[in-house]
Amino acid sequence: MPRTAKLVLGVESSCDETAVALVRDGREVVHSLIASQVETHAKFGGVVPEIAAREHLNILKPLFDQLMREADIEPRAIDAVAVSQGPGLVGALLVGASFAKGLATFLNRPLIPVDHVHAHVHGALLGLAANEDATQSNYPLLALVVSGGHTNLYAMPDSVTFKLIAHTMDDACGESFDKVGKLLGLPYPGGPQIERLAKAGQIGRFPMPRMVEKKSQMAFSYSGLKTHMVQLARSLKSADHADVCADFQEEALRQLVQKLATGLEMFPETRAIVIAGGVAANQRFRAMCTDTLRRRLIFPPLKYCSDNAAMIAAYGWHVYNSDADTKWMTRDWEVYSRYKFEEFSIQ
Ligand code: KG4
Ligand code: ZN
Repeated sequence: MPRTAKLVLGVESSCDETAVALVRDGREVVHSLIASQVETHAKFGGVVPEIAAREHLNILKPLFDQLMREADIEPRAIDAVAVSQGPGLVGALLVGASFAKGLATFLNRPLIPVDHVHAHVHGALLGLAANEDATQSNYPLLALVVSGGHTNLYAMPDSVTFKLIAHTMDDACGESFDKVGKLLGLPYPGGPQIERLAKAGQIGRFPMPRMVEKKSQMAFSYSGLKTHMVQLARSLKSADHADVCADFQEEALRQLVQKLATGLEMFPETRAIVIAGGVAANQRFRAMCTDTLRRRLIFPPLKYCSDNAAMIAAYGWHVYNSDADTKWMTRDWEVYSRYKFEEFSIQ
C-alpha cells in the first residue's frame, strides 16, 4: 500500500547554496527559498568547505523560519522531511542532515535522505504543469544529469529507480566547458561564454578528436578533448575563438546526443527524456536533441536548474510514497561526499 505524505519539506546544503522548500504531492511547489553563498566564496576563487558549512549553520534556521512565515504554514503541517544525503561537501551536508533530523524528530515525522544528483531529475520534472501527471505518464524515461560535476545517464523505469547506464570516465561535460573557457581567457563559468562565442562561429575549421564514438561504449569522455584544446590554444589568435568554440561545443554535445540515442535503442519503451544540470541551458544542445531524439523532451525551467530544495522535496515525496525501498526508514544512514557509482551502475 502506498503511503501518503502530502506536504514535504526539502532541505539542501550540499555545496554553497542553503535552500529550503515546501512541495505538495511531489509536484506543486508551495514555496522555495535559496540563499546563495557565491559572494562569500568568490574572493577565494572556489568554494571553501569549512566556510560553507559555517554559513549553512548560520542561515538554515532563519531561512526555514522565513519559509514557514511567507508560506503561512505551521511546522506541524509538514508530513515528511527530505534532505540531501550526498554527494557534496561532508561538513556542509552534515549541517542540513542534522537540522532535518532534529526537525523530523521534534515533529515526529519521517526523515527521507535523497541523492542530490538524482534529485536534479525531479527538479526538471517540476517544470511540468501541476495538472499534468508528472508521476506516471512519462515513465519509463531516460534522464541525463549534465553539470559541472556530473555526466550521468540513467534509465528510469519509475520515479525512484535510477539505473546508471553511462557516466564520464574523466571530466564532467560542464567541467570541460569551464576548463576550455579558462584556457581562452573567458570569465567563469565557461559554458555560457563558449555558447555565446560558438553562435558567431563556423563549425568545421578546427576538427576535434571524436571521443567514445563506438556505439557499444556507453560512457562519456572529455579529457582528450581538453588536451587537444590545450595544444590548439598555443597557436590560436583571438579571431579564431568563435570558430574553435563552435567546433569544441559541437563535439562536447555530440557525445551527449549520441549516447542518448543509444540509450533509446537500449530502452525502446522510453516515453520521455529528461535533461537536467547546467549544460541543459545550452540552446545548441536543445536543438540537437530536438533534431535527433524522437521522444518527448523535458528540460528544467531555469529556477530548478541550479541547486534548490524543491527538487529534494519532490524526490523525497516519490521515495516516501513508493514501496520500492524503505531502508531510509531506519534512520541509519550517513552523508556521502562522492556519488555511489557502484550502487547504481548496471554495467
Ligand atoms: O548544474 P550546475 O548549475 O552546477 C553544478 O555543476 O552543480 O552546472 C554548472 C555547469 C558549469 O560547468 C557551466 O559551465 C555549465 O553548467 N553550463 C553550460 C551552459 N550554462 C551552464 N554549459 C554549456 N552551455 C551553457 N549554456
Ligand atoms: Zn546540484
